[in-house]
Amino acid sequence: MADGSSETKSSNQMWGGRFASGPDAIMEEINASIGFDKKLYAQDIRGSIAHATMLAHQGIISAEDKDKIVHGLGTILSEIESGAFEFSRRLEDIHMNIEARLATLIGPAAGRLHTARSRNDQVALDFRLWVKEELQKTERALTALIGAFLDRAEEHADTVMPGFTHLQTAQPVTFGHHCMAYVEMFGRDRSRVRHAIEHMDESPIGAAALAGTGFPIDRHMTAKALGFREPTRNSIDTVSDRDFALEFLSIAAIAATHLSRLAEEIVIWSTPQFGFIRLSDAFSTGSSIMPQKKNPDAAELVRAKTGRINGSLIALLTVMKGLPLAYSKDMQEDKEQVFDAAESLELAIAAMTGMVRDMKIRADRMKAAAGSGYSTATDLADWLVRAAGLPFRDAHHVTGKAVALAEEKGCDLADLPLAELTAINPAITDKVFDVLTVEASVASRTSFGGTAPAEVRKQIAWWRARN
Ligand code: ARG
Repeated sequence: MADGSSETKSSNQMWGGRFASGPDAIMEEINASIGFDKKLYAQDIRGSIAHATMLAHQGIISAEDKDKIVHGLGTILSEIESGAFEFSRRLEDIHMNIEARLATLIGPAAGRLHTARSRNDQVALDFRLWVKEELQKTERALTALIGAFLDRAEEHADTVMPGFTHLQTAQPVTFGHHCMAYVEMFGRDRSRVRHAIEHMDESPIGAAALAGTGFPIDRHMTAKALGFREPTRNSIDTVSDRDFALEFLSIAAIAATHLSRLAEEIVIWSTPQFGFIRLSDAFSTGSSIMPQKKNPDAAELVRAKTGRINGSLIALLTVMKGLPLAYSKDMQEDKEQVFDAAESLELAIAAMTGMVRDMKIRADRMKAAAGSGYSTATDLADWLVRAAGLPFRDAHHVTGKAVALAEEKGCDLADLPLAELTAINPAITDKVFDVLTVEASVASRTSFGGTAPAEVRKQIAWWRARN
């Protein structure tokens, strides 16, 4: 009955004064947002309580009416939370569903709640409160993910693995150092989240439809009651602005891109060919036909969620790009994008945190791979510069010859006989063999931010103090 056709014939009870008949069924369907904005019920009720309290404090409504309103809103909150509340599509959105129920519960006093307020500032408030809470949740989730990486980095500060460029073996690094690269990435995501909270920490309520109001409201009072730093400063901008949602989505898209790169590495590392990690049973699945398989489904789904999140950002940017000031109904399309992206991001971060904590690191496989592919060639070239005084370009050339020789003989650089190395360049001595192992290579890179275990441990300590 709530969504039934017999109801569509009557004029809307909230704004129906100048309308003779109710909306066409299709109009009702395209217009209604209750299907998704019911998620904002708690924010809507909090906002209304703060608004009513301020109205009474300013003498705009009576204390008795305010008490009835606040009590009625409390009843509605428990009705919604217990599942007893009946949402009606005819009442369009969460704001009017709650206000209509309030009228049923407390009578005419309910009609005073909307004094000096419009749904335009009301929805801006509710949505801002929701996004702010979501940003705070994201901050906590990223902190947990960073914590997981710090633990793995500490455990594997000495575990040598190949570092890649172009996914070709480049130079040996440590797994701890690689983990710390993700700590930097998710650390930047978290600081973007903190900045966004800072940016959006202004209360929209009291901007009214777009022009403000002639009632003697106190916007500083409502801002404070709702936990905002201060009220917004321009009523037209306030009801037109969805930057806070766009910022959330951009931050989510960048974080999802980081998660997706990590997911891709997990997919590669867990192949039998790489074999750098083994995923726990908890985060992988078997194949229904090939009994030997263990698939990294959770990582693949994290990688795929990035598509949805990036899509949401583009969708809302596109909704907003041509809108004249101030509010247009187009803006109702903001919520689903943000809700969907938020759900995907939360899930992706949680799944990644679990995978990072659970995955088994196969240090033997990493070390074997680190030594292959002439990964210490740069160390040979650097040694020629340091010990033999060659210009780097010449050292590069000499090293290239040594690599070609090793390739021809099918051995590693460290296995080339000294005589054959001196034949390439007479300045080479047996001291060169000290730098050709992967451990020596890694230990030598002590520059700030480099892969040497001692340096990585310093960076872990820096982050521990900030996590
Ligand atoms: N459901 C609307 C939204 O989500 C609420 C604001 C409606 N304002 C209006 N003037 N029709 O944007």
